[in-house]
Amino acid sequence: MRSGLSGVSVSLVLGAIVIFSNAAIAQENNVCPTFKDYHTIKNNSRCWYDLAVEFNAPEIIQRMGYPLLTYKVRTADGYILTMFRIPNDHVKNTNARKHPIYLQHGLVSTCATFLGKGRDSLAFILSDAGYDVWLGNYRGNPYSEEHENMTIYDQEYWNHGTISYISEDDLQLESVPVFFNQLPGGTSIKILNHAADFVLGNFRKYNYGRLNPKYYGTSSSPIYDIKKLKLPVYLVFSGQDWVTPEADALNLWRNLPERSRHGMLKINRNVFNHIDMIYGRHAREWVYDPLVRVLNKAISS
Ligand SMILES: *[C@@H]1O[C@H](CO)[C@@H](O)[C@H](O)[C@H]1NC(C)=O
Ligand SMILES: *[C@@H]1O[C@H](CO)[C@@H](O)[C@H](O)[C@H]1NC(C)=O
Repeated sequence: MRSGLSGVSVSLVLGAIVIFSNAAIAQENNVCPTFKDYHTIKNNSRCWYDLAVEFNAPEIIQRMGYPLLTYKVRTADGYILTMFRIPNDHVKNTNARKHPIYLQHGLVSTCATFLGKGRDSLAFILSDAGYDVWLGNYRGNPYSEEHENMTIYDQEYWNHGTISYISEDDLQLESVPVFFNQLPGGTSIKILNHAADFVLGNFRKYNYGRLNPKYYGTSSSPIYDIKKLKLPVYLVFSGQDWVTPEADALNLWRNLPERSRHGMLKINRNVFNHIDMIYGRHAREWVYDPLVRVLNKAISS
């Protein structure tokens, strides 16, 4: 429910899927998990080739040989967001076509989060499994910079006063994995503040400080009442995650209403941090494949 992988909801169909060519894939490594690894990038088994370093999200989808549709969505407050869709109507056996599934990226990121691992990317795994995959992009990231009446150069676009645009240069590289070089996702201080609020354990609406009364009619921002959740939640977390520690995940679980507790998966490995959910070498084996099995089972029951 916090930053990162969240709320993914989906099944399995082989054979009916057209095997696409992926000619562009045999490339040299261009991403490593640490600065040190970059010294031996060419011959370092910890590094890999990531299409997302060189290509944007729609280009990756097309280069990987998947169909692509692009949608613009207008929010109630005038932001125009881009959604990409990998439709599943190429799956000839209509029984094998699964539900639509919406993937929402986390903080300081874009939907390329789900596309950067070649065929082992979550978006393509789901598509291969027959799902109709939709990729969202937060306001302010490079795919969603439009607004009905404003541009990203208007302060008001980033909402209220002190908001500024975070570039990669503003991030402390020591603490941010190197592969953020491919994540130029625009994020406002507002969103970062909000995330910090979550990290501090306050699962609440954005805190406008002294402006809270204007927006909420109360001096503090309202807590999200997750007891009201109706949809099933399947939590995937790691015992080794510094962004979303196990205690937070379990706390969220405890606060979910009974009807929403679909299940949870704890990744119990010595090394598996937040970012490994997306870029870890074992992401497919430990996270994505199990997730697809959960989804398949959920929709078939
Ligand atoms: C790459 O590394 C492996 C194992 O570290 C080594 O056996 C191999 O000779 C290296 N190849 C090159 C081209 O350096
Ligand atoms: C954009 O401007 C139009 C015309 O002034 C106005 O009607 C509309 O409400 C504005 N949209 C937003 C989201 O402020």
